[in-house]
Amino acid sequence: MTRVRFLNPDGTLAAEVEAGPNVRLLEVAQRLGLPLEGTCEGAMACSTCHVLVSAADLPGLPAPSAHEEDMLDFTAHVGPTSRLSCQIWLTADLDSLEVQLPPGHANMQGR
Ligand code: FES
Repeated sequence: MTRVRFLNPDGTLAAEVEAGPNVRLLEVAQRLGLPLEGTCEGAMACSTCHVLVSAADLPGLPAPSAHEEDMLDFTAHVGPTSRLSCQIWLTADLDSLEVQLPPGHANMQGR
């Protein structure tokens, strides 16, 4: 299980939960009712699942694919630790993960 902390854009705690293994971070957020649309359901075609991973936790994740990096190039509020939550799998060896929801969640209408 992975202890996942979701932070609001202002840094306050939105939710903390134990989840996984073998579940995508996007699915965890959606089960909690957090505002990550995930419009394309993981096909890397929308970027509405964008999150900012904590700098401390980023090295523990597999590197993003070239396609994911390309999608992030067109995403609002991107930072150096931005990832698509549909591409982050909570694996058995991932103990904890903290991510922040970006300000002004991107959606297909708002981009
Ligand atoms: S759900 Fe569309 S890119 Fe992640």
